[in-house]
Amino acid sequence: MAENNATLTIGDTSYDLPIMKGNEGPDVLDIRKLYGASDHFTFDPGFTSTASCESALTFIDGDEGILLHRGYSIEELSEKSSFMEVSYLLLNGELPSKTQLVEFSQTISRHTMLHEQLATFYRGFRRDAHPMAIMCGVVGALSAFYHDSTDISDPTHRMISSHRLIAKMPTIAAMAYKYSIGQPFLYPDNSLSYTGNFLRMTFGVPAEPYVVNPVIERAMDRIFILHADHEQNASTSTVRLAGSSGANPFACIAAGIACLWGPAHGGANEAALNMLREIGTPDKIPHYIERAKDKNDPFRLMGFGHRVYKNYDPRASVMQKTVREVLSELKVNDPIFDVALQLEDMALNDPYFIEKKLFPNVDFYSGIILSAIGFPTEMFTVLFALSRTVGWVAQWNEMISDPGQKIGRPRQLYTGPKHRPYPGFDER
Ligand code: CMC
Repeated sequence: MAENNATLTIGDTSYDLPIMKGNEGPDVLDIRKLYGASDHFTFDPGFTSTASCESALTFIDGDEGILLHRGYSIEELSEKSSFMEVSYLLLNGELPSKTQLVEFSQTISRHTMLHEQLATFYRGFRRDAHPMAIMCGVVGALSAFYHDSTDISDPTHRMISSHRLIAKMPTIAAMAYKYSIGQPFLYPDNSLSYTGNFLRMTFGVPAEPYVVNPVIERAMDRIFILHADHEQNASTSTVRLAGSSGANPFACIAAGIACLWGPAHGGANEAALNMLREIGTPDKIPHYIERAKDKNDPFRLMGFGHRVYKNYDPRASVMQKTVREVLSELKVNDPIFDVALQLEDMALNDPYFIEKKLFPNVDFYSGIILSAIGFPTEMFTVLFALSRTVGWVAQWNEMISDPGQKIGRPRQLYTGPKHRPYPGFDER
């Protein structure tokens, strides 16, 4: 809602720009009518100063290190809630009653199986394919199997496809893993929790019963909560942009997965653990810190820095606590954890990182936990995609249900040649 105006003066002409106020965070200058009233665009590559939409889902205060979903802090949610409950909250706006939570969990569990023919789809991939490549392909292909829920103008279709995506992602992720190691796929077991079922489909084998370790189940569930949504990040913006054209939800989420894969985004958890392993021992840390500071060296501290957080990422603190719990439960003494702690300490006391406000982000510690649980590094980003799916579908639903929603269509500052005549070959 606009309460005030800002004035923009270009040459002799002034333009009133309404100032919009959210419930938290900076005010926003509404420039929607600027082009038309003037012949100017605004320029913001990387969207460092642009609010691309209104959203009631997630709030981040990057300076204070605050992350809220529907008003609830990530610390409280990861301590007191469950991934199913957070999923309900993100999709519906409020925490569920006990009955609503049971109903919601049952609804999700009814969609955990994949169309049987999708198993043959997996077999078209090479065994050494990256599981993110498989996940991208399989999720994109879901629209070919579930066309009964792709009418995006129908809220029931939208909700069914959202439930399907949340429910099927663990099955898809576990199958990608099983395929890569040559083990048979396991069907879902709906007597288990969302997370317990995922652990069983990933680490169980048909020959033996699989017993879910409750400490690992809880840690995994917390990791899912920590990744559930994060405002208008690159992959979420990709989902919204894809969805703004009216594309079906399966195609939109496949686009989000493709974007998440990059090492500056979801791929950073894999890159962070690889980096910690490359560092190997605490005595090598100073060398890597120097490399990260060297402008002529492309090396960066992976799992460090964030576009929005200029303070400790609150998810990283929860993650650090969870590492201790998991390592102690599994009686793993991973020297890489010590390297990570010392690297964090050294970086946080280095003027370069202090000045640029670079802190550990969610990806810095997650790899150590996932590796201790038994996931290979290639699966890390897959787990991120699995958890982020609820955020993507919640954001997509929010966008599509807005009656004023328009196709996303940015403009540009053109720097190519001006109009020129087409030359024949003898003139080139
Ligand atoms: N190591 C060393 N220097 C860094 C790092 C880092 N990890 N991150 C940023 N900087 C420096 C960068 O060189 C730049 O310096 P200068 O101003 O002298 O040119 C300054 O800090 C600002 O960096 P930027 O790249 O302009 O900032 P950005 O907001 O565009 O990028 C980022 C944010 C997350 C891509 C970046 O910090 C980064 O590449 N971090 C490592 C990858 C990573 O951990 N990504 C996961 C992000 S959290 C999970 C998610 O969103 O998926």
